[in-house]
Amino acid sequence: MLPLPLRVLRLTLACAFLAASGPALLAQRVAVEARHGVVTSAHALASQAGVEILQKGGNAVDAAVATGLALTVVYPVAGNIGGGGFMVIHLAQGGQHIIDYREIAPAAATRDMYLGPDGELINGPGSSTVGWRASGVPGSVAGFALALEKYGSGKVSWADVCEPARRLAAEGHAVTQTTANGLRNSARHLGRFDESRRVYLKDGAFWQTGDWWVQRDLGETFARLQKFGPREFYEGETARLIAAAMAANSGTITLEDLKNYRAVEREPLRGSYRGHDIVTMPPPSSGGIALLQMLKMIEPHDVAALGHDSSAKYHLFTEAMKRAFRDRAEYLADPDFSPVPVAPLLDASYLRQRFADFDPDRTKPAAEIAPGLGKAVVAAVPAPESLETTHFSIVDSAGNAVANTYTLNGAYGSGVTIPGTGILMNNEMDDFTSKPGTPNKFGLIQGEVNSIAPRKRPLSAMTPTLVFKDGRLILITGSPGGPTIINTVLQVISNVVDFQMTPMQAVEAPRIHHQWMPDVLTYEKLSMSTDTIRALEARGHTVRMRQSYEGTYQGDAETVFIDADGLRHGAADPRKGDSAAIGY
Ligand code: GLY
Repeated sequence: MLPLPLRVLRLTLACAFLAASGPALLAQRVAVEARHGVVTSAHALASQAGVEILQKGGNAVDAAVATGLALTVVYPVAGNIGGGGFMVIHLAQGGQHIIDYREIAPAAATRDMYLGPDGELINGPGSSTVGWRASGVPGSVAGFALALEKYGSGKVSWADVCEPARRLAAEGHAVTQTTANGLRNSARHLGRFDESRRVYLKDGAFWQTGDWWVQRDLGETFARLQKFGPREFYEGETARLIAAAMAANSGTITLEDLKNYRAVEREPLRGSYRGHDIVTMPPPSSGGIALLQMLKMIEPHDVAALGHDSSAKYHLFTEAMKRAFRDRAEYLADPDFSPVPVAPLLDASYLRQRFADFDPDRTKPAAEIAPGLGKAVVAAVPAPESLETTHFSIVDSAGNAVANTYTLNGAYGSGVTIPGTGILMNNEMDDFTSKPGTPNKFGLIQGEVNSIAPRKRPLSAMTPTLVFKDGRLILITGSPGGPTIINTVLQVISNVVDFQMTPMQAVEAPRIHHQWMPDVLTYEKLSMSTDTIRALEARGHTVRMRQSYEGTYQGDAETVFIDADGLRHGAADPRKGDSAAIGY
């Protein structure tokens, strides 16, 4: 380890690099205003990577790939090449496109693979959350490659967009307080696996704030990707290392699984809210459908007149959340495996009727909310939630834009690092229903439709979203937070549309969450007045402040707003310590 003065010097140099390299890194209590382009992500160095590509002539898609790859290095809690996600693209010349690079279950996966001989869910290594059997086949590299090939500018190459990540890993970067604390807090999870302990816990010595962190193996992985192209991850040395490590540890992913992985394009889901057009993520995410359902349920109500923090508004939103999440639990899954009733769930008359029993004075108990298109209510057991996943938003000088949410699922995924690669693997298999009727790690109960099958994509809540007014893109948003993602996006949109908040206000404003089961309305730390809580309880709600185990704060809505003059406003969510909007 470097002596302290040198470490401080390196941290100072890193900050100086950010300041000297053109774009201004501003304090985040105001949105960063930019004439040309802006990138907002969970880490300043990843936002900087995107801006570097924009300034080389790349478009928003090129920048998104650079930002996504760079987050792998500087934001290992969720940034990844060992996971997957969704990218929503808007092209200034017209049209929106979606890249689905969600992980898929390996060919060896089976419906009951996480049940022990007693029929109960396995805990610890071997389960859907920890260790070598918890991972789906990673999609991030394939998704980024597809996005670049089809929607990139053509002015920068795959090697160019890999370069910031390679450089950050090979030459190092200063460890932030958030990263140091995050790694230390996950010491038990990561410490179970020798390679993770070595790389991410510094062999038990822990990375400290200001340490200069060189990730040699990850740098070499990016150098291979740069040299041999994205298929290297699926067919080259990296694939061989993943498959060999899996085989040596009774893991499930094989070389064939990697070779067979393909990212796919999906038709965007489209809806509207008070004269605004919404473009969002279709299945295998539940996010877009639930978001559009909730917006339609609240639309007939004068939300602005209720007041932003009022019990009446919170009640209205909660009732919409309960009904939408009830439908989610019943009907949503990978559309390639079972038909998802998208049109019936979004039908205007269905949603009117679904919300017809809304009572402004009384909550409907969760157990009494049946799925709207028919079928039985399943039993419920409360469970904690996790916060991880990460979202970034980008607009370029031409007006092309990207909303991208991707994930390892839980913090640092399965806890497994593939030896010799620096790649942390996802634990996305936990987003399947391991035991129908039992909640997953987010406390969500899911039905048979989302059960495990080979090559199937697990249901997601990720909701990268674009909002248009009179054909003009005004908002690029999304968030991490498991099921809370959908409700975070709902509230950011309402804050802008109903309350005309500034971008920073819209992102900062307190958030609530309800997911049908458990039948509990949560609010962020100290963000709800006692009399508001009492007024909600008088309507029959169980109201609770979010606890540290589930994330004191809800989400991380890295958002871009574009005003009528075309000025870009990058609003980095202050809930995450390292988030930054960088514009030019
Ligand atoms: N793994 C979190 C999500 O896909 O929603």
